[in-house]
Amino acid sequence: MCGISGVVGFKNIVDSLYQGILNLEYRGYDSCGVALMNGTRLLIKKDVGEVEKFFRKENVLSLKSQIGLAHTRWATHGKVVRRNTHPFTSGDGKFAVVHNGIISNYRALRDQLIHEKVRFLSDTDTEVIPHLLEKFYKKHKNIEEAMVKTLNLLEGSFALAFITVHQPDQIYCAKRESPLMLGIGDEIKFIGSDFNAFIEHTKNAVILDDGEYAIVSRDAYVVKNYVTRKEVAKPITKIDWDSETSRKGGYPHYMLKEIYEQPQMVSTVLELDISDLDEVADMILKSDTAYLVGVGTTFYVAKFAQYVFSSLAGVFLPSISSDEFVGLANLNRKSMVLAISQSGETYDTLSAIKQGKAAHAKTAAVVNVMGSSIARMVDKVVLQNSGPEISVISTKAAFSQMAVMILIALRLGLKAKKITRGQYEKHLASLRDLPGIIQNILNERSGFIHRIASNHSKVRHWLYLGRGIYYPIALEAALKMKEVAYVHAEGMPGGFLKHGTLALIDKEIYSVVFIPPREDKFLYQATIHSVEEIRARSGFVLGIHFDDRGKNRDLFSEELILPPVPPLVAPLIQLVIGQLLAYFTATSLKCNVDKPRFLAKSVTVG
Ligand code: G6P
Repeated sequence: MCGISGVVGFKNIVDSLYQGILNLEYRGYDSCGVALMNGTRLLIKKDVGEVEKFFRKENVLSLKSQIGLAHTRWATHGKVVRRNTHPFTSGDGKFAVVHNGIISNYRALRDQLIHEKVRFLSDTDTEVIPHLLEKFYKKHKNIEEAMVKTLNLLEGSFALAFITVHQPDQIYCAKRESPLMLGIGDEIKFIGSDFNAFIEHTKNAVILDDGEYAIVSRDAYVVKNYVTRKEVAKPITKIDWDSETSRKGGYPHYMLKEIYEQPQMVSTVLELDISDLDEVADMILKSDTAYLVGVGTTFYVAKFAQYVFSSLAGVFLPSISSDEFVGLANLNRKSMVLAISQSGETYDTLSAIKQGKAAHAKTAAVVNVMGSSIARMVDKVVLQNSGPEISVISTKAAFSQMAVMILIALRLGLKAKKITRGQYEKHLASLRDLPGIIQNILNERSGFIHRIASNHSKVRHWLYLGRGIYYPIALEAALKMKEVAYVHAEGMPGGFLKHGTLALIDKEIYSVVFIPPREDKFLYQATIHSVEEIRARSGFVLGIHFDDRGKNRDLFSEELILPPVPPLVAPLIQLVIGQLLAYFTATSLKCNVDKPRFLAKSVTVG
């Protein structure tokens, strides 16, 4: 998965191209490259490394062009070396191609081309594309024809774009499975893997569907289907994201900015249209089995949802990590697939939905990115409206999804008469108070969490423990620690500890325990029991708890005391603490917070 940005305009577009690809860097940042039209010649610059450094090193901003493509790579086929960096050119140097996705039949295509004496310069699947374009152009003397012929040969997934000296004022692009869209400005047009590629310039987008290609010049564009070859009338999608939200706004990292946006996220979720949530609740009620699916962080959101649906609505929904869905789900017309995805593009989750559709199951999704593949594919979408999440580490999007899940569960609980109107209102009131509570915690406790994190930043192994709904919180908080600080952190239900893992407790292993408010009596007692098990073996325990009755030095090695809050929202507060622990550990260890190693924000490949 990679980022593609392209611009064709009247004036010099190199600055806009740079801004576009920089905004997409969260999609991958192994290497970067550009293709610019220099008169009637193609100018290619590319290298390993991050966008900013690459542009500086190659002095790209001093170049001038009215048309260009840029690419930022997250390696799938071939090592991270210059020769595997996009763009790739045809043997005659007349086509320059960037691509996101995987051409699954590239070996066969490559073998055939090698047989025809084509020389390959990289190890990538992408390189077959410019060679095929050259081959078909030579035959048909028509770029569109060459493009359609090439597209129809490709198997797998792709969002691709090329420019060519044969028509130096047009960008050609196409998509299947990987996202691609056009940005429509006056006298300037953009292409991008998502809105961030052009959000600063235009809010008018045309989202390409699978099987479509577009030919884009500065004052016109046309979209066609590459199988039927018919023109497709495409609606303009208005992007309601604010470009300001995409900027760092004084925070040292997007991750921190996005953590601090979470109070606002609760308010945004509370403003969602109730009828949308009700539709999802009704779909669940009418189904025999409703599967909750997500992957990575969103799988943990699904697990979290499982607990809220059980406790607030009295229904058990199995949660399955999307990548394991194929082998596990038993689908039929009466099933439902409820997917959770920030990007709306994740391959595994998309596949689970497709599987649902193939079995005539109902499908719904909670998604952040409007116009994304998942948003458009499901029967019912709830757009969570969290705004752009730029940091590769997901915080505010997952947090919002958990809040959405609570709301859907509350609506379902009301419909299923599992909770009374009074209880419903009480829970809503707790949610309304939540932004203020989190804001205070962020203001008053961040410094303390920073201190804890930097004091223990050298610890290499953490156990993250929680019981009940705090179990998915422990999993998610541990994942944050792994992703951003590269520290081993294992999320686990507290009760699981005594079934083996206790054997690990020694001076090297530290534990974080997410403790529920005392009102949650059973859960509280059970969790404290886990703490005692570790302390009895002289293990270190950082206890995070809601207790204003002062320190309990005997119980915890170290503690973070939070103000008392209603049990419904307590897990969300614990999540925020977990995010901050990971963030401050990463900054203490001088990690690359917003672009952690080996991680991409949305994995659009299987
Ligand atoms: C990747 C990302 C994770 C993300 C997951 C699901 O694994 O690295 O951070 O949680 O995909 O992404 P989605 O966009 O579907 O929520």
